[in-house]
Amino acid sequence: MSGCPVRLHGPDFQADPGSLYEKMRAEHGPVVPVTMEGDVPAWLVIGYRELHHVLNTPGVFARSSSRWNAWHLVPQDWPMLPMVIQLPTVLYSEGADHRRRAGAVSDALSGTDLHELRTTTARMADRLIDSFCATTGTDLRTSYTARLPALVLSWLYGLDDVRGDHLADNMNTMIDGGPDAMAAQQALMAAMAELVAERRLRPGPDVVSRLLGHPAGYTDEEAVPELIVLLGGGNQPTAEWLGNALRLMFTDERFGASIAGARSSVQEALNEVLWEDTPTQIHAGRYAAHDVELGGQFIRQGDLLLLGLSGANRDPLVRSAAARGGHGSQAHLSFSHGAHQCPYPAREIAEIIAVTGVEVLVDRLPDIELAIPESELHWRPSPWVRGVASLPVTFTPAEPYGAR
Ligand code: HEM
Repeated sequence: MSGCPVRLHGPDFQADPGSLYEKMRAEHGPVVPVTMEGDVPAWLVIGYRELHHVLNTPGVFARSSSRWNAWHLVPQDWPMLPMVIQLPTVLYSEGADHRRRAGAVSDALSGTDLHELRTTTARMADRLIDSFCATTGTDLRTSYTARLPALVLSWLYGLDDVRGDHLADNMNTMIDGGPDAMAAQQALMAAMAELVAERRLRPGPDVVSRLLGHPAGYTDEEAVPELIVLLGGGNQPTAEWLGNALRLMFTDERFGASIAGARSSVQEALNEVLWEDTPTQIHAGRYAAHDVELGGQFIRQGDLLLLGLSGANRDPLVRSAAARGGHGSQAHLSFSHGAHQCPYPAREIAEIIAVTGVEVLVDRLPDIELAIPESELHWRPSPWVRGVASLPVTFTPAEPYGAR
């Protein structure tokens, strides 16, 4: 390894990632030796070209964490365990099993009626706004951005509003990782097993039924963890995408006009976020199938490579090209790339949730603005996720739609 490994934990990481990546690139080049919590080593790939190569070469940079050579360093209560633990799902599978699962997941999602999705997202957004609009302010993170994707995804699974609320509660409790996280995860597993049993008996026009009925031939035992991963993997980044776009619109005068209703800028804000503050900053990961050289570093068989999505998006190589096309360019790696990239129907669903989430909010509360100076906003303390810890806003009270 060249130089001292960079610590991926601790406060430095969240404050100013732009400068941090610049420093890492200058010191180590495109592939950076890092340590995670507990001094567990890994490589962080922040070069655009190198990351592209890693994602395009699954035979060498494989997905299954059963290949990892550092399991012996990992304590049972390691906080990063959810990032690496080997679950039998689309995320960690390889080869033919992955193709089978990824095809089925993609087909199940792409059966969604996008018009209905838009209408339902607007209805869910209205319900959430109804719960706080009669006051003068709220924390949009807890009352809106972290809830909306979970509610819409629950609807995609065919759940009614009551069960959707319940699922959204459990999902957010689990993700927050507090003392109730394990109980919430168990409740989620139980709810999903119940739903799978119901849909097996009575299929409907929903993602769960389409996955169960897919020629890929999912058993119930396979479907439950797959559906949980899909729900968690969809909810978390979509919530941060929506939250980060709203933050950008509240704090950057270029988007001032859209807060007052100039819709064309919502799309621009969302795309800019994918370049500047992408929801999944770092994703774990890939595991070297054999010894290999990458970006001037010697990677040993079984080494963990972390996908430095945000770092690669900031690589001067792609920045200069993207600058010519502005933030409208789609060349970022925020949805990853290659066999394990975020499925296209998932991206489309996420975008509809995010666009509609912004539009409905500014329609209902046109003078909404930050309740604190931008300098007092904090990012969540995580090198993996990029999202505001809270988003306090004020607005003129409005009548709830439900009360009309
Ligand atoms: C409805 C919302 C979403 C759903 C249902 C969803 C679903 C998925 C699924 C199933 C995968 C795994 C694909 C595989 O391993 O074959 C995946 C991967 C991924 N998704 Fe999404 N996703 C959603 C939204 C997002 C958003 C908003 C972002 C970030 C902007 C994102 C970023 C990623 C990334 C970075 C991966 C890469 C994994 C890798 O290369 O290992 N996703 N997503």
